Amino acid sequence: MTKPAFDPDKKLDDLLNIESEQAQQQSDTAGEKPGVDGKASGKFDFDIKPEELESFLNQYVVDQERTIEVIATKVCTHFNRMKIESRLTDDERLVGNIKSNMLLIGPTGVGKTYIVKLIAKKIGVPFVKADATKFSETGYVGGDVEDLVRELVYEADGDINRAEYGIIYIDEIDKIASSKGLYGPDVSRTGVQRNLLKLMEEAEVDLKTPHDLASQVEAAMEAQRTGKVSRRKINTRNILFIVSGAFSGLEEIIGKRLNKQAIGFEKKKFSSLNRMDMLKMVRTEDLIEFGFESEFVGRLPVYVVLNELDENGLYKILKNKYSTVVLGKKMDFRAYGIDLSFDDEALRLLSQKAHEEKTGARGLLSVFEKVLIKFEKSLPSTQIKTLEATAELVNDPDMVLKHLLIEDGIHSFQKSFLVDHGIYLDFDEAAIKKIQEMAGERLKSVKQLCNDLFNDYYHGLRLLKMDHFTITSDAVEHPGEYLNEIIKNNFNKSAR
Ligand SMILES: Nc1ncnc2c1ncn2[C@@H]1O[C@H](COP(=O)(O)OP(=O)(O)OP(=O)(O)O)[C@@H](O)[C@H]1O
Ligand SMILES: [Mg+2]
Repeated sequence: MTKPAFDPDKKLDDLLNIESEQAQQQSDTAGEKPGVDGKASGKFDFDIKPEELESFLNQYVVDQERTIEVIATKVCTHFNRMKIESRLTDDERLVGNIKSNMLLIGPTGVGKTYIVKLIAKKIGVPFVKADATKFSETGYVGGDVEDLVRELVYEADGDINRAEYGIIYIDEIDKIASSKGLYGPDVSRTGVQRNLLKLMEEAEVDLKTPHDLASQVEAAMEAQRTGKVSRRKINTRNILFIVSGAFSGLEEIIGKRLNKQAIGFEKKKFSSLNRMDMLKMVRTEDLIEFGFESEFVGRLPVYVVLNELDENGLYKILKNKYSTVVLGKKMDFRAYGIDLSFDDEALRLLSQKAHEEKTGARGLLSVFEKVLIKFEKSLPSTQIKTLEATAELVNDPDMVLKHLLIEDGIHSFQKSFLVDHGIYLDFDEAAIKKIQEMAGERLKSVKQLCNDLFNDYYHGLRLLKMDHFTITSDAVEHPGEYLNEIIKNNFNKSAR
């Protein structure tokens, strides 16, 4: 699989920047600013309602309505609650402090990261994404979970107040489930879970890394200079944690539980469920059985299971006006001044092929690359300025490209012949076919071959006073003899 030259997330940034600039202008005139107001230190200004966030997400994300409903609601509630936090009495604060941290379960390429990124952009909070696999318990190998909180400060341009309302998104969380092998639970993964769960609830994290020597030295020097130790800490109480993973094997655990609990006819019903339906019945005990500490699962009160995307879902993604796949590919070609378009049948076929890859929407990217990569390589060196992707092109890109290149070679030769000699050479179909064969045999470009065969034709054609001449397959096979014959006939005729 070739790596896409185009970064869909980058495109997403561009799209959203346009939107947020528009939103900014509107709200500037209305005198209010959406999202978190970081500049008014500590002031938290959030005013988005669940339905507003939901409809925003549904514009971009396809076939995940149920997921979006839950996520949008919980995210809005989380941030709206932060707003009233400062007004709560101590007693109220003690009672109600359960955060809506979320667990997203779903296979690759169905929109987990996409949804979280869109949310962070829309509500304008700092956002950090990481893979759980990079953490180790001690932090000496790989990273330390606390680094994520420090990264939030970086994302908030150093504004700790803003960082304290950020979103931390951790993917591949299923990889830190402990494998309960022969020697008891997997200590290191359990350790990472414990470190994380502290942050997920409430912890104070030092802005300066304990193992970052440079920042330690800097702090010591500052202390010497000023006589003060500035130990700035970030509180994680209001940071929203969203974790996700594919959780392969979890369905079996759920299935076993259901079967144990089920009676007669229910057993049959459960055995006919597919993987995603099974996952939708996940319960805390299944996640514990999968290898999570109960305290860890306890910090994740919201579970969401995303849908798999079928062929039609993938097609809808391509037709979506924000589709980064289509826009991205168009931009790849536009970079060479080529206008690329797709007809509907081509998009259907591409979705079908992408579905066969079984990598969700990620399959779209790889299929687009596979089909178009040779065009992307060859067309920039030609005169071709438009390309329409049709079903024929998707089914047999090599053949279509070959034809395009031949046509282009011939056009280019025709053009230079006309410019140089004022004579238009036409090629009939049989001639084009012959040229294609010969170019292949002689390993020459079509234009080069045409040059070799017909560049001298202008002497003869001038003699004949012709400004238009059709090349046939005979002319291609024996160019000299063919033209001589015509000249001879012509003079014989006029001599008579
Ligand atoms: N449901 C969807 N609707 C629209 N676009 C989608 C959807 N799912 C995925 N995409 C597109 O595919 C890209 C990759 O999806 P995303 O990064 O969200 O996958 P993921 O679910 O996080 O998968 P992984 O488990 O591999 O990280 C997105 O940037 C987006 O362009
Ligand atoms: Mg992801």
